Amino acid sequence: AQKITFETLARKKAAHEPLVMVTAYDHPGARAAEAAGVDAVLVGDSAAMTVLGYASTVSVTVDELLMLTAAVRRGLTTPLLVGDLPFGSYEASDEQAVRTAQRFVKEAGCDAVKIERGGTSVDRARAIVAAGIPVMGHVGLTPQSVGALGGYRAQGRTAEAARRVADDALALQDAGCFAVVFEAIPSEATAAIVPRLTVPVIGIGAGPAADGQVLVFHDLLGIHDGHQARFVKRYAEIGQATIAGIRAYADEVRSGAYPATAHGYGMAAGEADKLRD
Ligand code: KIV
Ligand code: NA
Repeated sequence: AQKITFETLARKKAAHEPLVMVTAYDHPGARAAEAAGVDAVLVGDSAAMTVLGYASTVSVTVDELLMLTAAVRRGLTTPLLVGDLPFGSYEASDEQAVRTAQRFVKEAGCDAVKIERGGTSVDRARAIVAAGIPVMGHVGLTPQSVGALGGYRAQGRTAEAARRVADDALALQDAGCFAVVFEAIPSEATAAIVPRLTVPVIGIGAGPAADGQVLVFHDLLGIHDGHQARFVKRYAEIGQATIAGIRAYADEVRSGAYPATAHGYGMAAGEADKLRD
């Protein structure tokens, strides 16, 4: 397959071909996304919960995400690789934002980085783009500011709130973002805002009017249990299959059914007899 470029995304949007993005956090996940033919892979700071066991995304560090992102890079050739800049790694100043984004390119091979919110993040996006690094915006439900938003809930549910989402998205586009993620935004609001933007909108819980969709790897594959957002659709039950597989292994070890002769090695001819001497 041909390497996906930023031009590919723009061309697909123009042709009304939906864009597909999925998260990944390790080498096998990246290999699977590659083989499935997605357009872009995001190493989300959702790694905080999906693979690191933190309670929210604010805890994950740059170093933790860089290790995961580098592993994904080694498994990916065709899709665009986007790295999430974690909470606390870009908000303080343009200099901090550029320095962190550079690490994601230099140390983890990212094609682009993603930052959350409008407001001061618009300036951070502009600074990172000016430093030569493509930026994806992220508006609506922005989990890094879940405290300020008063919980994980849909954003833009009133006309006034939807206008604020639109203003943020337009400002991020003007700052040079090549795409914007819309998370947990009413479908009608997305439908009203998308025609006002020239860059692709990647939705997650933002309805069918977005130019593309993104889902979290562990959510769409049913890898973990626990709370499931309304927008998640499960396309597999890997978590159940994983437990069943490990349980079957444990049962066979305990019953002696595993390992069988076929799983062992033999000595060279005649050598086993000498062990008795
Ligand atoms: O961290 C993440 O997985 C994300 C996507 C849900 C957009 O930011
Ligand atoms: Na994220």
